[in-house]
Amino acid sequence: MNSGNLLVLGMGGTIAGLATDPQKPMSYQAGQISAHGLIEALQLDSDMGPIEVIQVANMDSRHMNEELLMQLAWAVKAGLEREDVAGIVVTHGTDTMEETGVFLHATLGKLASHYRKAVVLTGAMLPANAEHADGPTNLRAALYLAKEARETQQFGILAVMAGKPCLARDLSKQHTHALDALVVNARELDGPIHKRQADLNLPTQMVWPWIEIITSHGGSSGRLVDMLTSQGVEGIVIAGTGQGSVHQNLAQHLILAAEAGIAVVRSSRTGAGAVFSEIPEPDSAWNWLSARDLNPAKARIALQLALLEANSRKTEDWQSIFATI
Ligand code: SIN
Repeated sequence: MNSGNLLVLGMGGTIAGLATDPQKPMSYQAGQISAHGLIEALQLDSDMGPIEVIQVANMDSRHMNEELLMQLAWAVKAGLEREDVAGIVVTHGTDTMEETGVFLHATLGKLASHYRKAVVLTGAMLPANAEHADGPTNLRAALYLAKEARETQQFGILAVMAGKPCLARDLSKQHTHALDALVVNARELDGPIHKRQADLNLPTQMVWPWIEIITSHGGSSGRLVDMLTSQGVEGIVIAGTGQGSVHQNLAQHLILAAEAGIAVVRSSRTGAGAVFSEIPEPDSAWNWLSARDLNPAKARIALQLALLEANSRKTEDWQSIFATI
């Protein structure tokens, strides 16, 4: 193989999905076509060079789990370390692409930059046999982004959907079915984000810290916090209202949870914008941490990684590790 080869890692998703009736594309099964089949259907010009395909999974990404995240990460790492691989594309379901994105960014983003390679996540909103399927365009864009990374200097863990490339960490799905459902969240920083010098360790254990997301809403009681605490939960991400504000009933229970040593991170359920540490009240007063621009699902993965890393390093607390993701 020459130095321009690409590696495609197939995870499944709607991009590999098939509708029973192509005229009704909203009703379909994800993960039906192999990644090899998706590449073949593109009928690429020879200038793309050889493409190697590894099918890591072929699934609906709603069922993503820690074991699969690790399998994907090890496959990405192996590809980054190979001299004969110039770039990597991951075909993935859009429902949890943002979580995989933040995970790969935190654990392999620096390695990708070190090797001056792009790992590009892509997917589709319409199944492969829909009349206006968006998968082929997205996949083609991802392949070019990965292939041209050295020329464009765009390294790291990227994503491309609906013609918009971005850091995969910054992506979030904000519409149930629109073709441009995945949007790039504008960075709003609450303190430095790039101060991490090295990637976080890839988890090796099958069981990661147990973190749940609790939504704050009118009529919140906080009883869920007590139930989780009694069952041994290790962290709670609050999907707060507005700027990450929390119902007073829920807050009372979360303050006690944090006092008992449970990691509490405050994010917003709004879907866009950052949660700042001083607004509406300082998190430090209760030992909570703001999620900054990470939405609840991304904050949950980030908190798992931060707790794992803090456990293995023993020199740093999870809060300072979380702040670097
Ligand atoms: C999935 O996430 O696997 C299904 C939905 C999608 O890919 O758009």
